[in-house]
Amino acid sequence: MGDTVISKIEKLKKEKNAVILAHYYVDDEIQRIADYVGDSFYLAKVATKIKEDVIVFCGVSFMGESAKILNPNKKVLMPDESADCPMAHMASVEKIEQMKKEYDDLAVVCYVNSSAKLKSHSDVCVTSSNALKIVESLPNKNIFFIPDENLGRYVSEKVKDKNIILNDGYCPIHKKMDKESLLKAKELHENAEVLVHPECTEDVLKLADYIGSTAGIIDYATNSSCNEFIVVTETGVLYELKEKNKDKKFYTISCEQICPDMKKITLDKILNCLENGSGEVVLDENLMKEAYLPLEKMLELGK
Ligand code: 13P
Ligand code: SF4
Repeated sequence: MGDTVISKIEKLKKEKNAVILAHYYVDDEIQRIADYVGDSFYLAKVATKIKEDVIVFCGVSFMGESAKILNPNKKVLMPDESADCPMAHMASVEKIEQMKKEYDDLAVVCYVNSSAKLKSHSDVCVTSSNALKIVESLPNKNIFFIPDENLGRYVSEKVKDKNIILNDGYCPIHKKMDKESLLKAKELHENAEVLVHPECTEDVLKLADYIGSTAGIIDYATNSSCNEFIVVTETGVLYELKEKNKDKKFYTISCEQICPDMKKITLDKILNCLENGSGEVVLDENLMKEAYLPLEKMLELGK
């Protein structure tokens, strides 16, 4: 059954001149058939260069929206339109406008895990792989960092010469990855290095040997002389980690480390959207233009 679906997908990809992009958090079987797999920053960069007519985006809605905004002439299809990131909605335009009035020299820095509407009211987007670099490079003294409080706090601790104002958004999945579960895992694997995504809470970040984006975690483990690692992020990353490091060991912690929305993407749904053209990302023209500017700035400053 699996093989039949895969061969049908391959056939339709050729017929429709389509390409499949997938985030590291989707199921292994999706990562195996994708043309490009990566973290949010890599996928945004790839999206700008796609020559094919159709992009099937295996991820959550903010990723598909960014691909559409960055390459508006392509048809972007989401295999499951309900796959969304709750954090992408955890900031408000009203609060952004209030901050702009309150602070003179303010840049609104928007984590790419955000709706197109939030992006359109921001000055620059960042991902977890370039947030530090981009915030450091901004001329502004005051930064309103939306929507993720944890990533914002992590950046504010590194960039001391700026006034970074935090917003109270968070990733419900990374928030559940708690210090106690990590401490237990450290007791069991005392020689393992701890790899943590910056969406985790402050107390968990303090226990990390390495903090970085999904791709950053993969690169760190691949280049490290250590042979075992405790991975504190979504477990989809384990597929690429293990593929690249067959001789190394990777452990998870005892709490749930799965993003249910990323797991909504299935082979059947990919086949279905290729067959019917369903799940197309359609955004208002003006919104696309306004949200393009902060994304373009991210590509320029974050490279
Ligand atoms: P990356 O920037 O590592 O791709 O993270 C995306 C994400 O959704 C993390 O939860
Ligand atoms: Fe959003 Fe968290 Fe899922 Fe990433 S893991 S897509 S931040 S809910």
